[in-house]
Parts: sequence; C-alpha cells; structure tokens
Amino acid sequence: MAETTYRVAVVGGDGIGPEVIAHGLRVIEATGVRLDTTDYDLGGARYLRDGTILPDSVLDEWRSFDGIYLGAVGTPEVAPGVIERGLLLKMRFDLDLYVNQRPFLTDSHDFVVIRENTEGSYAGEGGLLRKGTPHEIATQGSVNTRMGAERAIRYGFELTMSRKKHLTLVHKTNVLTFSGDLWQRAFDDVAAEYPEVETAYNHVDAACIYFVQDPQRYDVIVTDNLFGDILTDLGGAVSGGIGLAASANLNPARTGPSMFEPVHGSAPDIAGRNLANPIAAIMSGAMMLRFFGEAEAADRISRACEACNHIEGSTTEIADAVLAKL
Ligand code: IPM
Ligand code: MN
Repeated sequence: MAETTYRVAVVGGDGIGPEVIAHGLRVIEATGVRLDTTDYDLGGARYLRDGTILPDSVLDEWRSFDGIYLGAVGTPEVAPGVIERGLLLKMRFDLDLYVNQRPFLTDSHDFVVIRENTEGSYAGEGGLLRKGTPHEIATQGSVNTRMGAERAIRYGFELTMSRKKHLTLVHKTNVLTFSGDLWQRAFDDVAAEYPEVETAYNHVDAACIYFVQDPQRYDVIVTDNLFGDILTDLGGAVSGGIGLAASANLNPARTGPSMFEPVHGSAPDIAGRNLANPIAAIMSGAMMLRFFGEAEAADRISRACEACNHIEGSTTEIADAVLAKL
C-alpha cells in the first residue's frame, strides 16, 4: 500500500518557536509518517524586516495543504495586536478553524477544553470614538452566532462520545444574559441529540476554582473564545506547566488545512538558548498526525511525551528523551 505524504506548511515564527518546531518535526519523522514540508518565514521578525504579516497569496497557497505547524509568533518590538490579529487570528478566521482543542493531563486524569475559535470578543467588533480626547469611547463587542456556538458545542459532544461521555458548558450566564442565553439554549438543544452524554454547567469564575481544586470533575469542556483563552492558560498551569500544553486549531469540516501550535508564546527571554521545553510543540505535532488519521503514530508520540513529562533538561535533552521512548 502506498504511504500517504502529507503537505504541511511550517511556520517556526519568533523566539523559541523555530527551536521547538524543529524538534517536533524530528519526532514526527522518527514515526515514519511522511511530511512534505514548506517553510514560511512569518511572524514579528519578518514584519520588522519588510512589513509582511500574512499575505492573502500565502493563505491561498495554504488552502491546498493538509496542515499548518506553527511554533509561536510575536516579538516585544511590535505593538500588541499587530501580529496576533494580522497573522494568528487571520488564520483562524479565514481558514475557519472554528474549534480550538486543548488537552490537559493531570497526575490522575486527562481532560480537554474545546474553545470556540472564530467569534466572541475576538471578532474585532467595536472601535474608538474621539480617540485621545477626554471624551473618548471604546467599545469591544462579543459576537455570538447560533451557528458558531452550535458547531463548537456539537464538536464537544462528538468528542466526549469517544471518551467519558461528560460535557461541561462554561460561560457566565448570570451576567452575560444575552450571549449566555444563546449558548445555553444551543447547548441544551444539541444535548437532546446525545442522551448518553451527561452534561454540566459551570460559571467561568467557578470553573477557575475547580481547575485548581478538582479538575477530576471534567472530561470535555466547551466554552467561548475569551473564556477558553484564559481557562486554557490555567489548564496548562495546573497540568505540568504551559511548556506541556498543546493545541489544535481545527476546521473539522476539512474545507481547508487545520493548524497545530503549542499554547505557549515566543518567550523571547529564553530564545536561542536551548532552554525551552519542546513537549508542547511535539504534542501539537501528535495532534496533527491524529487529525490526519495517523492514530498509531500519534499514540506513540503521546505515550513517549507522557513518559517524559517530568524530565528537566535542555530542549535537545528533552526531545532526545522523547525520541528514545518512541
Ligand atoms: C492563544 C494565544 C492567542 C489567543 C493570542 C496570541 C492572540 O494567547 O492561542 O491562546 O489569545 O488566542
Ligand atoms: Mn492564550
């Protein structure tokens, strides 16, 4: 049987991004899964050099790829928002990567956060009026469509059907009475299609306490974009640190490539010093292989990373330890 070769766009990006992605690619190669990679020099450093962020021509090239493997983007010299909105969010929105899947492993169990990835406060709704005057006004709306909430919720139900059949909605329905109402009704309606799944609801502030004190109560969580952003940093912190936290930005409809990146940022303070933990990037690579249908290779990488979760050492030492366990 001819083996598949997957076409992957590689964006090492800034800071520690290129280092951790290089090790992720080494580990993938060692599984025997074949990737045809194309490197893209994008991120804060590229922007500072020639003003390029993410040209539409590049996005169009990517539409025929199987996946995008991204390290981290952003440099302190570029104003906040430029690279985040222009590159990362543009990818999520334009490629319709509507699910952000972030798995966490504690000492005794694992759980997954499904973060809606294309709407909410991230949509860019709002603006400034009378900027710079004493009467200035800023608004930043939260965009919630029934379709957008429902497809993320449905993904959460589908995912938990192959797990513990337990799904928690996290929101703030006691204060965000409009968006919360839409989310709660969408959740209840989809729940009726999955009678085997036990459901729960937590306000996001309470969920923060449970993440620290009782994460065992969770199997799969579904939540909106901003709550998911905040909650998944906390998830990283309570499950071995952000150096282990992987993520997949998925287009489950497969109308284009999905994107795989560690949750951590570019960490310019430790860049180029062989100090970054490559596990999050390697695990994100495993998520990419799983999405491609390469479950066996993905399992091998996941198990090897789990065995190396507690190792301390240089980037290279940790990656070598994962390779040895494959
Ligand atoms: C993340 C990051 C991004 C986000 C930033 C860099 C735009 O924090 O992937 O969690 O807020 O989604
Ligand atoms: Mn974040």
